Amino acid sequence: MRPATQLLTAVLALGVSLPVFAKDNPANNVQYESKFPNQYKTWKQTGESEALDDALGGDPNLVILWAGYGFAKDYNAPRGHLYAVTDVRTTLRTGAPMKEDEGPMPMACWSCKSPDVARLIKGEGEAEYFQGKWAKGGPEITNSIGCTDCHVAGTAKLRVSRPFAERAFETIGTPFAEADRTEQQNMVCGQCHVEYYFEKTADRPNWVKFPWDMGTSVDEIEVYFDSINFSDWTHKLSRAPMLKAQHPGYETTKLGAHGRNGVSCTYCHMPRVQNEKGKWFTSHKVGNPLDQFSDTCERCHTQSKEYFVEQMKTQKARVAELKKEAEAQLVNAHFEAAAAWEAGATEAQMAPALKDIRHAQWRWDFAIASHGVAAHAPQEALRILGTAINKAADARVKLVRILAENGVTQTVALPDISTKAKAQAVLGMDMDKMNADKAIFMEEVVPVWEADYKANNGG
Ligand code: HEC
Ligand code: HEC
Ligand code: HEC
Ligand code: HEC
Repeated sequence: MRPATQLLTAVLALGVSLPVFAKDNPANNVQYESKFPNQYKTWKQTGESEALDDALGGDPNLVILWAGYGFAKDYNAPRGHLYAVTDVRTTLRTGAPMKEDEGPMPMACWSCKSPDVARLIKGEGEAEYFQGKWAKGGPEITNSIGCTDCHVAGTAKLRVSRPFAERAFETIGTPFAEADRTEQQNMVCGQCHVEYYFEKTADRPNWVKFPWDMGTSVDEIEVYFDSINFSDWTHKLSRAPMLKAQHPGYETTKLGAHGRNGVSCTYCHMPRVQNEKGKWFTSHKVGNPLDQFSDTCERCHTQSKEYFVEQMKTQKARVAELKKEAEAQLVNAHFEAAAAWEAGATEAQMAPALKDIRHAQWRWDFAIASHGVAAHAPQEALRILGTAINKAADARVKLVRILAENGVTQTVALPDISTKAKAQAVLGMDMDKMNADKAIFMEEVVPVWEADYKANNGG
Protein backbone atom coordinates (compact mmCIF):
# COMPACT_ATOMS: atom_id res chain seq x y z
CA MET A 1 0.00 0.00 0.00
CA ARG A 2 1.18 3.51 -0.73
CA PRO A 3 1.52 5.78 2.30
CA ALA A 4 -1.45 7.91 1.32
CA THR A 5 -3.67 4.87 0.94
CA GLN A 6 -2.36 3.53 4.25
CA LEU A 7 -3.26 6.79 5.94
CA LEU A 8 -6.72 6.72 4.40
CA THR A 9 -7.29 3.15 5.54
CA ALA A 10 -6.14 4.06 9.02
CA VAL A 11 -8.46 7.05 9.18
CA LEU A 12 -11.40 4.97 7.99
CA ALA A 13 -10.57 2.27 10.51
CA LEU A 14 -10.82 4.88 13.26
CA GLY A 15 -14.36 5.56 12.15
CA VAL A 16 -13.65 9.19 11.27
CA SER A 17 -15.88 10.28 8.44
CA LEU A 18 -13.92 11.98 5.69
CA PRO A 19 -15.45 15.04 4.12
CA VAL A 20 -16.86 14.46 0.68
CA PHE A 21 -15.04 16.69 -1.78
CA ALA A 22 -16.92 19.87 -2.50
CA LYS A 23 -17.24 19.07 -6.19
CA ASP A 24 -19.47 16.11 -5.36
CA ASN A 25 -21.94 18.46 -3.74
CA PRO A 26 -23.96 20.30 -6.43
CA ALA A 27 -25.20 22.90 -3.92
CA ASN A 28 -21.71 24.21 -3.18
CA ASN A 29 -21.51 27.51 -5.07
CA VAL A 30 -17.73 28.01 -4.80
CA GLN A 31 -16.91 25.08 -7.08
CA TYR A 32 -18.44 26.88 -10.12
CA GLU A 33 -16.09 29.86 -9.84
CA SER A 34 -13.32 28.56 -12.10
CA LYS A 35 -15.61 27.44 -14.91
CA PHE A 36 -17.90 30.51 -14.83
CA PRO A 37 -15.82 33.36 -13.34
CA ASN A 38 -17.98 36.24 -14.66
CA GLN A 39 -21.24 34.80 -13.42
CA TYR A 40 -19.71 33.75 -10.10
CA LYS A 41 -18.13 37.12 -9.45
CA THR A 42 -21.34 39.03 -10.12
CA TRP A 43 -23.43 36.51 -8.16
CA LYS A 44 -21.16 37.14 -5.18
CA GLN A 45 -21.79 40.87 -5.50
CA THR A 46 -25.36 40.33 -4.26
CA GLY A 47 -23.54 40.41 -0.91
CA GLU A 48 -22.99 44.14 -1.40
CA SER A 49 -26.68 44.71 -0.72
CA GLU A 50 -26.25 44.25 3.01
CA ALA A 51 -28.41 46.90 4.67
CA LEU A 52 -30.98 45.39 7.02
CA ASP A 53 -34.10 47.51 6.88
CA ASP A 54 -36.34 46.95 9.92
CA ALA A 55 -39.85 47.15 8.48
CA LEU A 56 -41.61 47.03 11.88
CA GLY A 57 -39.47 49.88 13.19
CA GLY A 58 -40.41 51.96 10.15
CA ASP A 59 -44.11 51.16 10.47
CA PRO A 60 -45.33 49.95 13.92
CA ASN A 61 -48.84 49.37 12.50
CA LEU A 62 -47.44 46.13 11.10
CA VAL A 63 -46.99 44.76 14.62
CA ILE A 64 -50.71 45.18 15.28
CA LEU A 65 -51.77 43.84 11.88
CA TRP A 66 -49.74 40.66 12.45
CA ALA A 67 -50.60 40.28 16.15
CA GLY A 68 -50.31 36.64 17.24
CA TYR A 69 -48.14 35.73 14.24
CA GLY A 70 -44.37 35.51 13.81
CA PHE A 71 -44.12 38.59 11.62
CA ALA A 72 -45.02 40.77 14.63
CA LYS A 73 -41.69 39.68 16.22
CA ASP A 74 -39.54 41.00 13.43
CA TYR A 75 -39.62 41.58 9.73
CA ASN A 76 -36.93 43.08 7.51
CA ALA A 77 -37.12 44.23 3.91
CA PRO A 78 -35.40 41.82 1.49
CA ARG A 79 -31.69 42.19 0.73
CA GLY A 80 -29.15 40.41 -1.45
CA HIS A 81 -29.47 36.69 -2.26
CA LEU A 82 -26.18 35.99 -0.48
CA TYR A 83 -27.89 36.67 2.88
CA ALA A 84 -30.86 34.33 2.58
CA VAL A 85 -29.51 31.62 4.90
CA THR A 86 -28.06 34.08 7.43
CA ASP A 87 -31.33 35.98 7.58
CA VAL A 88 -33.57 32.96 8.09
CA ARG A 89 -31.30 31.86 10.94
CA THR A 90 -31.23 35.23 12.65
CA THR A 91 -34.86 36.30 12.33
CA LEU A 92 -36.85 35.97 15.54
CA ARG A 93 -39.56 34.28 13.50
CA THR A 94 -37.60 31.02 13.41
CA GLY A 95 -37.21 31.15 17.19
CA ALA A 96 -34.36 29.51 19.09
CA PRO A 97 -34.72 25.73 18.70
CA MET A 98 -32.02 24.04 20.76
CA LYS A 99 -33.01 20.57 19.51
CA GLU A 100 -33.90 19.14 16.11
CA ASP A 101 -37.58 18.63 16.93
CA GLU A 102 -38.21 22.00 18.58
CA GLY A 103 -40.42 24.58 16.83
CA PRO A 104 -41.85 26.97 16.08
CA MET A 105 -41.35 26.68 12.31
CA PRO A 106 -41.56 23.66 9.98
CA MET A 107 -38.93 22.50 7.46
CA ALA A 108 -40.86 24.30 4.71
CA CYS A 109 -39.29 27.59 5.90
CA TRP A 110 -35.99 26.69 4.21
CA SER A 111 -37.58 26.17 0.84
CA CYS A 112 -36.62 29.46 -0.85
CA LYS A 113 -33.25 29.97 0.80
CA SER A 114 -30.71 27.55 -0.62
CA PRO A 115 -29.63 25.16 -3.37
CA ASP A 116 -29.22 22.62 -0.56
CA VAL A 117 -33.02 22.41 -0.58
CA ALA A 118 -32.97 21.21 -4.19
CA ARG A 119 -30.18 18.78 -3.27
CA LEU A 120 -32.11 17.34 -0.32
CA ILE A 121 -35.38 16.98 -2.24
CA LYS A 122 -33.57 15.22 -5.06
CA GLY A 123 -31.84 12.91 -2.61
CA GLU A 124 -34.61 12.01 -0.18
CA GLY A 125 -37.85 13.14 -1.84
CA GLU A 126 -40.31 15.81 -0.75
CA ALA A 127 -42.10 13.70 1.88
CA GLU A 128 -38.89 13.24 3.82
CA TYR A 129 -37.69 16.82 3.20
CA PHE A 130 -40.89 18.47 4.46
CA GLN A 131 -41.07 16.15 7.47
CA GLY A 132 -40.26 17.74 10.83
CA LYS A 133 -39.31 21.07 12.27
CA TRP A 134 -37.11 23.77 10.75
CA ALA A 135 -34.19 22.89 13.04
CA LYS A 136 -33.96 19.45 11.41
CA GLY A 137 -32.63 21.11 8.25
CA GLY A 138 -29.94 23.18 10.01
CA PRO A 139 -27.03 20.75 9.55
CA GLU A 140 -27.88 20.19 5.87
CA ILE A 141 -28.61 23.72 4.60
CA THR A 142 -25.83 26.33 4.56
CA ASN A 143 -25.26 27.52 0.98
CA SER A 144 -27.16 30.68 0.16
CA ILE A 145 -29.30 31.05 -3.01
CA GLY A 146 -26.99 30.02 -5.82
CA CYS A 147 -26.21 28.31 -9.08
CA THR A 148 -28.24 25.10 -8.83
CA ASP A 149 -31.34 26.93 -7.60
CA CYS A 150 -31.67 28.19 -11.17
CA HIS A 151 -29.39 25.93 -13.26
CA VAL A 152 -28.75 22.28 -14.01
CA ALA A 153 -25.54 21.66 -12.02
CA GLY A 154 -22.37 22.79 -13.77
CA THR A 155 -24.20 24.11 -16.85
CA ALA A 156 -25.85 27.28 -18.13
CA LYS A 157 -29.16 25.46 -18.63
CA LEU A 158 -31.99 27.02 -16.64
CA ARG A 159 -34.18 24.81 -14.51
CA VAL A 160 -36.93 24.88 -11.93
CA SER A 161 -35.32 23.10 -9.00
CA ARG A 162 -38.39 22.84 -6.75
CA PRO A 163 -40.97 20.16 -7.61
CA PHE A 164 -43.70 22.14 -5.82
CA ALA A 165 -43.00 25.08 -8.15
CA GLU A 166 -43.12 22.86 -11.21
CA ARG A 167 -46.49 21.45 -10.09
CA ALA A 168 -47.81 25.00 -9.73
CA PHE A 169 -46.64 26.03 -13.20
CA GLU A 170 -48.39 22.94 -14.58
CA THR A 171 -51.55 23.93 -12.70
CA ILE A 172 -51.64 27.25 -14.57
CA GLY A 173 -51.00 25.54 -17.86
CA THR A 174 -47.31 25.84 -18.69
CA PRO A 175 -44.77 23.28 -17.53
CA PHE A 176 -41.25 24.77 -17.47
CA ALA A 177 -40.07 22.68 -20.43
CA GLU A 178 -42.86 24.06 -22.63
CA ALA A 179 -42.42 27.72 -21.70
CA ASP A 180 -40.61 30.12 -24.05
CA ARG A 181 -37.28 31.61 -23.08
CA THR A 182 -38.56 34.81 -21.46
CA GLU A 183 -41.17 32.91 -19.49
CA GLN A 184 -38.50 30.46 -18.33
CA GLN A 185 -36.53 33.44 -17.10
CA ASN A 186 -39.59 34.55 -15.11
CA MET A 187 -40.15 31.05 -13.81
CA VAL A 188 -36.70 30.64 -12.26
CA CYS A 189 -37.47 33.70 -10.13
CA GLY A 190 -41.06 32.54 -9.69
CA GLN A 191 -39.90 29.46 -7.80
CA CYS A 192 -39.48 31.76 -4.81
CA HIS A 193 -40.92 35.23 -5.55
CA VAL A 194 -44.52 34.00 -5.39
CA GLU A 195 -47.45 33.54 -3.08
CA TYR A 196 -47.32 30.17 -1.30
CA TYR A 197 -48.75 28.46 1.76
CA PHE A 198 -48.11 25.34 3.82
CA GLU A 199 -50.62 22.60 3.08
CA LYS A 200 -52.52 21.12 5.97
CA THR A 201 -53.70 17.92 4.30
CA ALA A 202 -52.99 14.49 5.79
CA ASP A 203 -50.83 13.31 2.90
CA ARG A 204 -48.89 16.58 2.53
CA PRO A 205 -48.49 18.09 5.99
CA ASN A 206 -46.60 21.38 5.79
CA TRP A 207 -45.64 20.98 2.14
CA VAL A 208 -45.18 24.21 0.21
CA LYS A 209 -47.96 24.85 -2.30
CA PHE A 210 -48.71 27.84 -4.55
CA PRO A 211 -52.47 28.59 -4.19
CA TRP A 212 -53.07 28.87 -7.94
CA ASP A 213 -55.79 26.23 -8.48
CA MET A 214 -58.33 28.93 -9.37
CA GLY A 215 -55.94 31.48 -10.88
CA THR A 216 -53.11 33.78 -9.76
CA SER A 217 -54.84 37.11 -9.09
CA VAL A 218 -55.45 38.38 -5.57
CA ASP A 219 -59.21 37.83 -6.03
CA GLU A 220 -58.88 34.27 -7.34
CA ILE A 221 -56.45 33.24 -4.61
CA GLU A 222 -58.80 34.70 -2.00
CA VAL A 223 -61.65 32.54 -3.35
CA TYR A 224 -59.35 29.52 -3.31
CA PHE A 225 -58.29 30.03 0.32
CA ASP A 226 -61.93 30.56 1.37
CA SER A 227 -62.97 27.39 -0.47
CA ILE A 228 -60.52 25.24 1.51
CA ASN A 229 -61.17 27.17 4.73
CA PHE A 230 -57.51 27.99 5.07
CA SER A 231 -56.04 30.45 7.52
CA ASP A 232 -52.44 31.08 8.51
CA TRP A 233 -53.32 32.19 12.02
CA THR A 234 -56.02 33.60 14.26
CA HIS A 235 -55.55 37.29 14.94
CA LYS A 236 -54.74 37.96 18.57
CA LEU A 237 -57.00 41.00 18.92
CA SER A 238 -59.88 40.54 16.48
CA ARG A 239 -59.73 36.70 16.41
CA ALA A 240 -60.25 36.90 12.64
CA PRO A 241 -59.04 33.87 10.63
CA MET A 242 -56.17 35.58 8.84
CA LEU A 243 -54.22 35.04 5.63
CA LYS A 244 -50.56 36.09 5.37
CA ALA A 245 -49.50 37.03 1.87
CA GLN A 246 -45.91 36.02 1.13
CA HIS A 247 -44.32 37.80 -1.83
CA PRO A 248 -46.43 37.39 -4.96
CA GLY A 249 -43.96 39.25 -7.21
CA TYR A 250 -44.23 36.78 -10.09
CA GLU A 251 -48.03 37.09 -10.10
CA THR A 252 -48.26 40.88 -9.81
CA THR A 253 -45.38 41.66 -12.21
CA LYS A 254 -47.26 39.86 -15.00
CA LEU A 255 -50.06 42.42 -14.68
CA GLY A 256 -47.83 45.47 -15.21
CA ALA A 257 -46.79 47.14 -18.49
CA HIS A 258 -43.56 45.13 -18.69
CA GLY A 259 -45.04 41.79 -17.74
CA ARG A 260 -47.80 42.20 -20.32
CA ASN A 261 -45.18 42.98 -22.98
CA GLY A 262 -42.93 40.02 -22.31
CA VAL A 263 -40.16 41.90 -20.50
CA SER A 264 -38.93 39.25 -18.06
CA CYS A 265 -37.39 39.78 -14.61
CA THR A 266 -33.93 39.25 -16.03
CA TYR A 267 -34.01 42.20 -18.47
CA CYS A 268 -34.07 44.47 -15.44
CA HIS A 269 -32.49 42.44 -12.63
CA MET A 270 -29.93 40.33 -14.56
CA PRO A 271 -28.97 42.35 -17.65
CA ARG A 272 -26.46 41.28 -20.30
CA VAL A 273 -23.18 43.10 -19.65
CA GLN A 274 -19.55 43.00 -20.89
CA ASN A 275 -16.49 42.02 -18.91
CA GLU A 276 -13.09 43.81 -19.10
CA LYS A 277 -12.26 41.89 -22.27
CA GLY A 278 -15.51 42.82 -23.96
CA LYS A 279 -17.09 39.38 -23.57
CA TRP A 280 -20.88 39.43 -23.08
CA PHE A 281 -22.44 37.58 -20.17
CA THR A 282 -25.45 37.76 -17.85
CA SER A 283 -24.87 39.88 -14.74
CA HIS A 284 -25.78 37.78 -11.73
CA LYS A 285 -25.80 40.77 -9.41
CA VAL A 286 -29.54 40.63 -8.76
CA GLY A 287 -30.42 43.94 -7.14
CA ASN A 288 -31.91 47.34 -7.90
CA PRO A 289 -32.12 47.75 -11.72
CA LEU A 290 -31.78 51.52 -11.45
CA ASP A 291 -28.22 50.99 -10.16
CA GLN A 292 -27.36 49.41 -13.54
CA PHE A 293 -29.41 51.91 -15.52
CA SER A 294 -27.41 51.88 -18.78
CA ASP A 295 -27.62 48.07 -18.94
CA THR A 296 -31.31 47.90 -18.02
CA CYS A 297 -33.91 50.62 -18.60
CA GLU A 298 -31.74 52.51 -21.08
CA ARG A 299 -31.61 49.52 -23.41
CA CYS A 300 -35.29 50.07 -24.21
CA HIS A 301 -36.12 53.63 -23.12
CA THR A 302 -34.77 57.02 -24.16
CA GLN A 303 -35.54 58.98 -20.96
CA SER A 304 -32.79 59.83 -18.47
CA LYS A 305 -32.03 58.01 -15.25
CA GLU A 306 -33.12 61.09 -13.26
CA TYR A 307 -36.49 60.97 -15.01
CA PHE A 308 -37.11 57.37 -13.97
CA VAL A 309 -35.77 57.82 -10.44
CA GLU A 310 -38.19 60.72 -10.00
CA GLN A 311 -41.03 58.70 -11.52
CA MET A 312 -40.27 55.74 -9.24
CA LYS A 313 -40.42 58.07 -6.23
CA THR A 314 -43.88 59.28 -7.29
CA GLN A 315 -45.16 55.74 -7.85
CA LYS A 316 -43.83 54.60 -4.49
CA ALA A 317 -45.39 57.62 -2.76
CA ARG A 318 -48.81 56.86 -4.29
CA VAL A 319 -48.68 53.24 -3.23
CA ALA A 320 -47.46 54.26 0.24
CA GLU A 321 -50.37 56.70 0.61
CA LEU A 322 -53.06 54.04 0.04
CA LYS A 323 -51.07 51.53 2.09
CA LYS A 324 -51.21 53.89 5.09
CA GLU A 325 -54.96 54.44 4.59
CA ALA A 326 -55.60 50.72 4.51
CA GLU A 327 -53.47 50.17 7.60
CA ALA A 328 -55.27 52.86 9.59
CA GLN A 329 -58.64 51.28 8.79
CA LEU A 330 -57.40 47.79 9.61
CA VAL A 331 -55.71 48.69 12.88
CA ASN A 332 -58.92 50.34 14.07
CA ALA A 333 -60.98 47.36 12.93
CA HIS A 334 -58.81 44.91 14.92
CA PHE A 335 -59.15 46.96 18.13
CA GLU A 336 -62.89 47.50 17.57
CA ALA A 337 -63.39 43.77 17.10
CA ALA A 338 -61.45 43.12 20.32
CA ALA A 339 -63.71 45.60 22.12
CA ALA A 340 -66.78 43.88 20.68
CA TRP A 341 -65.64 40.49 21.97
CA GLU A 342 -64.96 42.09 25.35
CA ALA A 343 -68.47 43.55 25.38
CA GLY A 344 -69.94 40.07 24.87
CA ALA A 345 -70.45 39.81 21.10
CA THR A 346 -71.20 36.29 19.85
CA GLU A 347 -69.45 34.28 17.17
CA ALA A 348 -72.52 34.59 14.96
CA GLN A 349 -72.59 38.37 15.33
CA MET A 350 -68.88 38.68 14.60
CA ALA A 351 -68.44 36.29 11.67
CA PRO A 352 -69.34 38.68 8.81
CA ALA A 353 -67.14 41.49 10.17
CA LEU A 354 -64.23 39.12 10.71
CA LYS A 355 -64.54 37.90 7.14
CA ASP A 356 -64.27 41.49 5.91
CA ILE A 357 -61.16 41.98 8.05
CA ARG A 358 -59.67 38.78 6.65
CA HIS A 359 -60.25 39.85 3.06
CA ALA A 360 -59.17 43.45 3.60
CA GLN A 361 -55.89 42.53 5.23
CA TRP A 362 -55.19 39.80 2.68
CA ARG A 363 -55.49 42.40 -0.06
CA TRP A 364 -53.41 45.02 1.72
CA ASP A 365 -50.71 42.40 2.37
CA PHE A 366 -50.77 41.01 -1.18
CA ALA A 367 -50.04 44.47 -2.55
CA ILE A 368 -47.37 45.35 0.00
CA ALA A 369 -45.60 42.00 0.15
CA SER A 370 -45.20 42.02 -3.64
CA HIS A 371 -41.80 43.67 -3.15
CA GLY A 372 -41.08 46.18 -5.89
CA VAL A 373 -44.75 46.38 -6.84
CA ALA A 374 -44.56 50.17 -7.22
CA ALA A 375 -42.09 49.51 -10.05
CA HIS A 376 -43.64 46.34 -11.47
CA ALA A 377 -47.38 46.98 -11.47
CA PRO A 378 -48.33 50.24 -9.74
CA GLN A 379 -51.89 50.25 -11.10
CA GLU A 380 -52.60 46.76 -9.81
CA ALA A 381 -51.13 47.70 -6.41
CA LEU A 382 -53.42 50.75 -6.19
CA ARG A 383 -56.44 48.72 -7.33
CA ILE A 384 -55.82 46.05 -4.70
CA LEU A 385 -55.23 48.62 -1.95
CA GLY A 386 -58.45 50.40 -2.97
CA THR A 387 -60.45 47.21 -2.43
CA ALA A 388 -58.64 46.63 0.87
CA ILE A 389 -59.71 50.05 2.15
CA ASN A 390 -63.30 49.36 1.09
CA LYS A 391 -63.47 46.00 2.80
CA ALA A 392 -61.89 47.32 5.99
CA ALA A 393 -64.48 50.12 6.00
CA ASP A 394 -67.23 47.48 5.54
CA ALA A 395 -65.91 45.67 8.60
CA ARG A 396 -65.92 48.85 10.66
CA VAL A 397 -69.52 49.70 9.73
CA LYS A 398 -70.54 46.23 10.92
CA LEU A 399 -68.47 46.56 14.08
CA VAL A 400 -70.08 49.86 15.07
CA ARG A 401 -73.44 48.10 14.94
CA ILE A 402 -72.22 45.06 16.88
CA LEU A 403 -70.66 47.30 19.52
CA ALA A 404 -73.90 49.25 19.88
CA GLU A 405 -75.92 46.03 20.17
CA ASN A 406 -73.63 45.09 23.04
CA GLY A 407 -73.94 48.43 24.77
CA VAL A 408 -70.78 50.19 23.56
CA THR A 409 -71.62 53.50 21.97
CA GLN A 410 -68.42 55.51 22.41
CA THR A 411 -65.49 55.37 19.98
CA VAL A 412 -62.97 52.61 20.72
CA ALA A 413 -59.73 54.36 21.68
CA LEU A 414 -56.41 53.13 20.32
CA PRO A 415 -53.53 52.48 22.75
CA ASP A 416 -50.13 54.07 22.12
CA ILE A 417 -48.62 52.09 19.24
CA SER A 418 -46.36 54.85 18.00
CA THR A 419 -43.18 52.72 18.06
CA LYS A 420 -42.40 49.07 17.39
CA ALA A 421 -41.54 48.50 21.08
CA LYS A 422 -44.75 50.14 22.29
CA ALA A 423 -46.89 48.15 19.85
CA GLN A 424 -45.20 44.90 20.93
CA ALA A 425 -45.72 45.82 24.59
CA VAL A 426 -49.44 46.40 23.94
CA LEU A 427 -49.60 42.81 22.71
CA GLY A 428 -47.69 41.57 25.76
CA MET A 429 -44.76 40.26 23.74
CA ASP A 430 -41.61 39.48 25.77
CA MET A 431 -39.01 40.72 23.30
CA ASP A 432 -36.12 40.59 25.78
CA LYS A 433 -36.59 36.87 26.26
CA MET A 434 -36.92 36.21 22.52
CA ASN A 435 -33.74 38.14 21.80
CA ALA A 436 -31.81 36.44 24.62
CA ASP A 437 -32.91 32.97 23.45
CA LYS A 438 -31.92 33.83 19.90
CA ALA A 439 -28.44 34.91 21.00
CA ILE A 440 -27.90 31.55 22.72
CA PHE A 441 -29.16 29.71 19.64
CA MET A 442 -26.76 31.63 17.37
CA GLU A 443 -23.85 30.96 19.69
CA GLU A 444 -24.47 27.31 20.49
CA VAL A 445 -26.51 25.74 17.70
CA VAL A 446 -25.48 27.41 14.44
CA PRO A 447 -21.73 26.61 14.72
CA VAL A 448 -22.64 22.93 15.24
CA TRP A 449 -24.82 23.03 12.12
CA GLU A 450 -21.92 24.50 10.14
CA ALA A 451 -19.49 21.86 11.38
CA ASP A 452 -21.95 19.02 10.71
CA TYR A 453 -22.53 20.32 7.21
CA LYS A 454 -18.80 20.32 6.46
CA ALA A 455 -18.40 16.82 7.82
CA ASN A 456 -21.34 15.47 5.82
CA ASN A 457 -21.14 17.44 2.61
CA GLY A 458 -17.68 18.93 2.30
CA GLY A 459 -18.38 22.63 2.71
C1 HEC B 1 -31.64 33.40 -9.46
C2 HEC B 1 -31.34 32.51 -10.55
C3 HEC B 1 -29.90 32.31 -10.95
C4 HEC B 1 -28.85 32.00 -10.13
C5 HEC B 1 -28.84 31.90 -8.63
C6 HEC B 1 -27.73 31.77 -11.00
N1 HEC B 1 -28.09 31.97 -12.30
FE1 HEC B 1 -26.90 31.80 -13.95
N2 HEC B 1 -28.38 32.51 -15.13
C7 HEC B 1 -29.65 32.83 -14.70
C8 HEC B 1 -30.38 33.41 -15.80
C9 HEC B 1 -31.82 33.91 -15.74
C10 HEC B 1 -29.51 33.41 -16.91
C11 HEC B 1 -29.83 33.92 -18.32
C12 HEC B 1 -30.41 32.79 -19.08
C13 HEC B 1 -30.91 33.23 -20.44
O1 HEC B 1 -30.20 33.99 -21.12
O2 HEC B 1 -32.00 32.80 -20.80
C14 HEC B 1 -28.27 32.81 -16.46
C15 HEC B 1 -27.18 32.57 -17.29
C16 HEC B 1 -26.05 31.87 -16.89
C17 HEC B 1 -25.02 31.38 -17.78
C18 HEC B 1 -25.02 31.49 -19.31
C19 HEC B 1 -24.07 32.53 -19.79
C20 HEC B 1 -24.53 33.91 -19.50
O3 HEC B 1 -23.82 34.62 -18.77
O4 HEC B 1 -25.62 34.30 -19.96
C21 HEC B 1 -24.07 30.78 -16.98
C22 HEC B 1 -22.79 30.11 -17.43
C23 HEC B 1 -24.52 30.89 -15.61
N3 HEC B 1 -25.72 31.56 -15.59
C24 HEC B 1 -23.82 30.42 -14.51
C25 HEC B 1 -24.22 30.59 -13.18
C26 HEC B 1 -23.40 30.29 -12.03
C27 HEC B 1 -21.99 29.73 -12.09
C28 HEC B 1 -24.13 30.57 -10.93
C29 HEC B 1 -23.72 30.50 -9.47
C30 HEC B 1 -22.54 31.24 -9.09
C31 HEC B 1 -25.42 31.06 -11.39
N4 HEC B 1 -25.43 31.07 -12.76
C32 HEC B 1 -26.47 31.43 -10.54
C33 HEC B 1 -30.16 32.63 -13.44
C34 HEC B 1 -29.41 32.31 -12.31
C1 HEC C 1 -34.33 30.06 -4.24
C2 HEC C 1 -35.26 31.16 -4.07
C3 HEC C 1 -35.05 32.42 -4.89
C4 HEC C 1 -34.88 32.52 -6.25
C5 HEC C 1 -34.79 31.38 -7.27
C6 HEC C 1 -34.81 33.92 -6.54
N1 HEC C 1 -34.92 34.66 -5.37
FE1 HEC C 1 -34.75 36.67 -5.20
N2 HEC C 1 -34.78 36.52 -3.17
C7 HEC C 1 -35.03 35.37 -2.48
C8 HEC C 1 -34.96 35.65 -1.05
C9 HEC C 1 -35.19 34.64 0.06
C10 HEC C 1 -34.62 37.02 -0.93
C11 HEC C 1 -34.40 37.80 0.37
C12 HEC C 1 -33.03 37.52 0.91
C13 HEC C 1 -32.79 38.19 2.27
O1 HEC C 1 -33.31 39.29 2.50
O2 HEC C 1 -32.07 37.59 3.10
C14 HEC C 1 -34.52 37.54 -2.28
C15 HEC C 1 -34.21 38.86 -2.59
C16 HEC C 1 -34.32 39.40 -3.88
C17 HEC C 1 -34.17 40.79 -4.22
C18 HEC C 1 -33.80 41.92 -3.26
C19 HEC C 1 -32.33 42.21 -3.44
C20 HEC C 1 -31.84 43.42 -2.71
O3 HEC C 1 -30.63 43.70 -2.85
O4 HEC C 1 -32.62 44.10 -2.02
C21 HEC C 1 -34.41 40.91 -5.57
C22 HEC C 1 -34.39 42.17 -6.40
C23 HEC C 1 -34.67 39.57 -6.07
N3 HEC C 1 -34.58 38.69 -5.02
C24 HEC C 1 -34.95 39.28 -7.39
C25 HEC C 1 -34.90 37.99 -7.93
C26 HEC C 1 -34.92 37.69 -9.34
C27 HEC C 1 -35.04 38.72 -10.44
C28 HEC C 1 -34.83 36.33 -9.46
C29 HEC C 1 -34.75 35.50 -10.73
C30 HEC C 1 -33.66 35.83 -11.64
C31 HEC C 1 -34.75 35.79 -8.12
N4 HEC C 1 -34.79 36.82 -7.23
C32 HEC C 1 -34.67 34.44 -7.81
C33 HEC C 1 -35.28 34.11 -3.01
C34 HEC C 1 -35.09 33.77 -4.35
C1 HEC D 1 -39.00 46.80 -16.03
C2 HEC D 1 -37.99 46.35 -15.12
C3 HEC D 1 -38.30 45.30 -14.09
C4 HEC D 1 -38.82 44.04 -14.30
C5 HEC D 1 -39.23 43.41 -15.60
C6 HEC D 1 -38.85 43.41 -13.01
N1 HEC D 1 -38.39 44.27 -12.05
FE1 HEC D 1 -38.21 43.88 -10.08
N2 HEC D 1 -37.78 45.83 -9.73
C7 HEC D 1 -37.58 46.79 -10.69
C8 HEC D 1 -37.36 48.08 -10.05
C9 HEC D 1 -37.10 49.39 -10.76
C10 HEC D 1 -37.45 47.86 -8.66
C11 HEC D 1 -37.43 48.89 -7.53
C12 HEC D 1 -36.15 49.31 -7.08
C13 HEC D 1 -36.36 50.39 -6.03
O1 HEC D 1 -36.82 50.07 -4.94
O2 HEC D 1 -36.10 51.53 -6.34
C14 HEC D 1 -37.70 46.42 -8.49
C15 HEC D 1 -37.82 45.79 -7.25
C16 HEC D 1 -37.88 44.41 -7.07
C17 HEC D 1 -37.83 43.72 -5.81
C18 HEC D 1 -37.73 44.39 -4.44
C19 HEC D 1 -36.34 44.68 -4.04
C20 HEC D 1 -36.29 45.29 -2.66
O3 HEC D 1 -35.18 45.32 -2.10
O4 HEC D 1 -37.32 45.74 -2.13
C21 HEC D 1 -37.93 42.38 -6.07
C22 HEC D 1 -37.92 41.26 -5.05
C23 HEC D 1 -38.06 42.23 -7.49
N3 HEC D 1 -38.02 43.48 -8.08
C24 HEC D 1 -38.21 41.01 -8.15
C25 HEC D 1 -38.62 40.92 -9.49
C26 HEC D 1 -39.10 39.70 -10.10
C27 HEC D 1 -39.19 38.36 -9.40
C28 HEC D 1 -39.43 40.00 -11.39
C29 HEC D 1 -40.06 39.10 -12.43
C30 HEC D 1 -41.25 38.37 -12.04
C31 HEC D 1 -39.14 41.41 -11.58
N4 HEC D 1 -38.66 41.93 -10.41
C32 HEC D 1 -39.30 42.11 -12.79
C33 HEC D 1 -37.61 46.59 -12.05
C34 HEC D 1 -38.06 45.44 -12.68
C1 HEC E 1 -36.62 44.93 -22.65
C2 HEC E 1 -37.10 46.28 -22.82
C3 HEC E 1 -37.44 47.08 -21.57
C4 HEC E 1 -36.67 47.31 -20.46
C5 HEC E 1 -35.30 46.72 -20.14
C6 HEC E 1 -37.38 48.25 -19.65
N1 HEC E 1 -38.57 48.57 -20.24
FE1 HEC E 1 -39.96 49.90 -19.57
N2 HEC E 1 -41.20 49.37 -21.03
C7 HEC E 1 -40.94 48.46 -22.03
C8 HEC E 1 -42.14 48.20 -22.79
C9 HEC E 1 -42.27 47.25 -23.95
C10 HEC E 1 -43.16 48.98 -22.21
C11 HEC E 1 -44.62 49.06 -22.59
C12 HEC E 1 -44.82 50.11 -23.59
C13 HEC E 1 -46.30 50.23 -23.95
O1 HEC E 1 -47.15 49.89 -23.13
O2 HEC E 1 -46.57 50.70 -25.04
C14 HEC E 1 -42.52 49.74 -21.12
C15 HEC E 1 -43.19 50.68 -20.34
C16 HEC E 1 -42.58 51.41 -19.33
C17 HEC E 1 -43.23 52.47 -18.59
C18 HEC E 1 -44.65 52.96 -18.77
C19 HEC E 1 -45.64 52.00 -18.16
C20 HEC E 1 -45.63 51.97 -16.67
O3 HEC E 1 -45.22 50.95 -16.10
O4 HEC E 1 -45.98 52.97 -16.05
C21 HEC E 1 -42.33 52.91 -17.68
C22 HEC E 1 -42.50 53.99 -16.65
C23 HEC E 1 -41.11 52.12 -17.84
N3 HEC E 1 -41.31 51.24 -18.88
C24 HEC E 1 -39.99 52.22 -17.06
C25 HEC E 1 -38.90 51.36 -17.13
C26 HEC E 1 -37.81 51.36 -16.17
C27 HEC E 1 -37.67 52.29 -15.00
C28 HEC E 1 -36.96 50.37 -16.55
C29 HEC E 1 -35.70 49.91 -15.88
C30 HEC E 1 -35.82 49.56 -14.46
C31 HEC E 1 -37.52 49.76 -17.75
N4 HEC E 1 -38.70 50.39 -18.04
C32 HEC E 1 -36.94 48.73 -18.43
C33 HEC E 1 -39.73 47.88 -22.28
C34 HEC E 1 -38.65 47.87 -21.40
